[in-house]
Amino acid sequence: MTAKPLPSLSKDIDVLYDSETIARRVQELGAQIAADFEGQDNLVLVTILKGSVLFAADLARAIDLPLTMDFLGLSSYQGGTESTGVVRITNDLSRSVEGKHVLVVEDIVDTGLTMHFLLENLATRRPESVRICTLLHKPSRAKVQLPLDYVGFTIPDAFVVGYGLDYAEKLRNLPYVGILKAT
Ligand code: IMP
Ligand code: MG
Repeated sequence: MTAKPLPSLSKDIDVLYDSETIARRVQELGAQIAADFEGQDNLVLVTILKGSVLFAADLARAIDLPLTMDFLGLSSYQGGTESTGVVRITNDLSRSVEGKHVLVVEDIVDTGLTMHFLLENLATRRPESVRICTLLHKPSRAKVQLPLDYVGFTIPDAFVVGYGLDYAEKLRNLPYVGILKAT
C-alpha cells in the first residue's frame, strides 16, 4: 500500500525522503550490517527512544542475523527545535551489554551531544564493541566529532520530522521524512 501524506499537514512539510526511498536505504543498511557482523551471535540493537523506534523496527527486519533488541530512553530536548545539550536517561536498558556487540540505532545525529554522552555511558558497561547506525546525519551542526559507522542519509541544516522524528512529540507517525517549514 502506498502511504499518502496527511493532507492537513502537507502544506507545512516538504517531503525529503518518501517511504519507498527510506525502505530501500534501510534494506541496504541492513545488508551491510549483516555482512559486517556475520558470524557474531551476540549482537544487540540498542534503540534510542523514542525517535528511533520506527527505524529500528524496519532495520532489525533487514538484518539477517540472530540479534536481540533493547531500548534506552534519552532526553535532550525541551520540546522545541534547539538542542539543549542536557542529556538524561529516562529509561535504562533492560539487560547488561557486557561482552556484547552493541549497535546503537539512532534517528538523527545533529550536534552529536546526545551520542557523545551515550558513547561515554555505554563504555562504562564493558561491551565487546560499539557501533553507531543513524538514519540521518546533519554534519553542518556538529559540535563533537563522532565515529558514525552507518548513516542512512546526510541532510542539510533543516528541522525534519516523520518516520519517528517529532516536533513537540507530534508527527512521529508520518511515513516519510520531511522538512518542517517555518510557520
Ligand atoms: P543532538 O544531541 O543535537 O545530536 O540531537 C540528537 C537528538 O535531537 C535526536 O536524537 C533527536 O531526538 C533530536 N533532533 C535533532 N535534530 C532533529 C530534527 O531535525 N528533528 C527532530 N528531532 C531532532
Ligand atoms: Mg533522538
